[in-house]
Amino acid sequence: MTTSPKDRVLIFDTTLRDGEQCPGATMTLDEKLQVADLLDEMGVDIIEAGFPIASNGDFEAVQAIAGRIKNATVAGLARAGMADIDRAGEAVRHAVRPRIHTFLSTSPVHMKHKLQKEPDQVLEMVIASVARARNHVGDVEWSAEDGTRTEHDFLCRCVEAAIKAGATTINIPDTVGYTAPHEYKALFEMVRARVPNSDKAVFSVHCHNDLGMAVANSLAGVEGGARQIECTINGIGERAGNAALEEIVMAIKTRNDIFRYDCGIESKLLTRASKLVATVTSFPVQYNKAIVGRNAFAHESGIHQDGMLKNTQTYEIMTPASVGVKSTSLVMGKHSGRNAFKDKLKHLGYSLSDNQLEDAFVRFKDLADRKKVIYDEDIEALVDEKLANSQD
Ligand code: KIV
Ligand code: ZN
Repeated sequence: MTTSPKDRVLIFDTTLRDGEQCPGATMTLDEKLQVADLLDEMGVDIIEAGFPIASNGDFEAVQAIAGRIKNATVAGLARAGMADIDRAGEAVRHAVRPRIHTFLSTSPVHMKHKLQKEPDQVLEMVIASVARARNHVGDVEWSAEDGTRTEHDFLCRCVEAAIKAGATTINIPDTVGYTAPHEYKALFEMVRARVPNSDKAVFSVHCHNDLGMAVANSLAGVEGGARQIECTINGIGERAGNAALEEIVMAIKTRNDIFRYDCGIESKLLTRASKLVATVTSFPVQYNKAIVGRNAFAHESGIHQDGMLKNTQTYEIMTPASVGVKSTSLVMGKHSGRNAFKDKLKHLGYSLSDNQLEDAFVRFKDLADRKKVIYDEDIEALVDEKLANSQD
């Protein structure tokens, strides 16, 4: 049987731009450089380094990142205005692979209330902004902000105009996290089928997590033909955040039996990246966060611990090592069973008789009912105390 090679999906990281846009996540220049270096080492295809017109600090950060990144494309964001685009062009100029990412709202609610412009005026701005960006760089991404709430005919007209003006990537963001997987997939299928020359551009997904569907929506958009995924480390971003890079990467890798595409990310660096971003932004990662949460490879219940001791595939669908975690942890608590307790004692260097083990297990359960976290020292104390008493 011959298998056809899988398509490559590009990973576009926007931790330093959309991620930094969430309240309180501001990073210093040095911190941004550390994050950018790690993203490049990890194999991210495009690093969106910032929004150069936003501040001098943002401009300097994008320029510095553009000047040092060896492999990834470095993108700078710009609204549709000429000053924005020129500033972004200036900031990414020295990148090995520079990109300008320009965007404009296309939904009725944004055009009417935010831009206060008619659709035809917006269309003209799309053409002018993409053409201006193309004067600076050959790699131009155009985004239809609030694309998922945009009227379909108008979205197709804008995408067609952007491609004609020279856009090489077309992004249809779910700016407010409103869409659902089947709808987002159908949107890409519809646009790609209706827009002439749609094969001249790479289509991109960009999903926010307001309804908790950002990762599922992103993967559905790829099923609809998109080949670039925009995401952030730890899923940080405006409001409820963006699609989490680590979840996307591990979904693609873990379920490579059902996904027809691959990505070039070294997943062993995911935990390091998560810790770095959590530290520099001071945004804690929730304990039960998929892939990088502290409990992602921790098991407490007796039934699960027993299964894990027999074969780790019983309760783990990926190995901790594959995301850069040293090992699974069998956390001792009131739900733990005899087998895990026995295994823990063995690791702590104890060899107890059956009676001693039973006695220690009963006292461990009593302690676990009273105490939320049981440390190795607690277990050592309860065994040592009993052994000392029995020698008296
Ligand atoms: O969510 C969004 O629409 C954006 C655009 C600027 C791409 O972040
Ligand atoms: Zn966004």
